Amino acid sequence: MKHLLKMMDLTNGDITEILNLADQLKYEQKHGIAHKVLAGKTLGMIFEKASTRTRVSFEVGMYQLGGLPIFLSAGDLQIGRGEPVQDTARVLSRYLDGIMIRTYKQAEVDALAKNGTIPIINGLTDYAHPCQVLADLMTIREYKGALEGLKLCFIGDGNNMMNSLIVGGLKMKMEVAVACPAEYRPNPAVRDFAAAHPAFSMTTDPLDAARGADVLITDVWASMGEEGEAEKRRKAFRGYQINDEVLAAAKPDAMVQHCLPAHRGEEITAKAFEAHAKEIFDEAENRLHAQKAVLVKLLGNK
Ligand code: CP
Ligand code: NVA
Repeated sequence: MKHLLKMMDLTNGDITEILNLADQLKYEQKHGIAHKVLAGKTLGMIFEKASTRTRVSFEVGMYQLGGLPIFLSAGDLQIGRGEPVQDTARVLSRYLDGIMIRTYKQAEVDALAKNGTIPIINGLTDYAHPCQVLADLMTIREYKGALEGLKLCFIGDGNNMMNSLIVGGLKMKMEVAVACPAEYRPNPAVRDFAAAHPAFSMTTDPLDAARGADVLITDVWASMGEEGEAEKRRKAFRGYQINDEVLAAAKPDAMVQHCLPAHRGEEITAKAFEAHAKEIFDEAENRLHAQKAVLVKLLGNK
């Protein structure tokens, strides 16, 4: 594993290794055991979109590992004035030990990886959010003990989260059921991948997808960059919500995950959110531990 660009690139073994290391790092951090294994290493963090969790968890994570995080707002970089990503990659490779990037196009992240010589971590694109999905899988495993055979249900938009959860869930041998309006399906490459797995199903009916689920997951109806479509999407996604009815269709001990930020009253009711807040904020915390595992694996001395 040289980069973390999307879940599709990871094997079941890679994911298991990251989750095991994340559990270990979490244990060490909780017990005051220092693990400054990235002393002397630097991580550049390029943000072309807003962030609370990703920025803070990567910054704190690098600090706890003994390394230096450098926050780079895309608006302040020459890349924001048109310097090609190929040149940016070659320059930054001379200074840094790794780059985390949050941007719009997956192609930009792939171009950094192709042209640079250091590990690239996708901190969210329109296509994928692998850091979040690793944290979700870590949290689900923490609560349920294992992943294989569990039913994961995602209700909502065929966005970066749905794309990455489908791939991550299927790679971990989970049953994956998604519900989305017909015109908001996941990416075609993800659908092709999923079509080869009998454990995958896609429907327009949220209750169908939720039936017997161990984990219910949702995300905003309009992602970053889609603010102009918010009104149209509010209509298209009405009913694609985690609420009492959907919870009743799932297993009685079903857990809920939400990558946050959440829009109460849209993709999840305030009641469902608060009833499952513990799991949701454990998920947010696990961003820190899962990403530290990724950093150690990619930037650590082999
Ligand atoms: N879930 C997530 O990636 O949050 P931020 O947008 O706050 O980083
Ligand atoms: N799908 C959302 C996830 C935010 C963490 C977005 O891309 O805005």
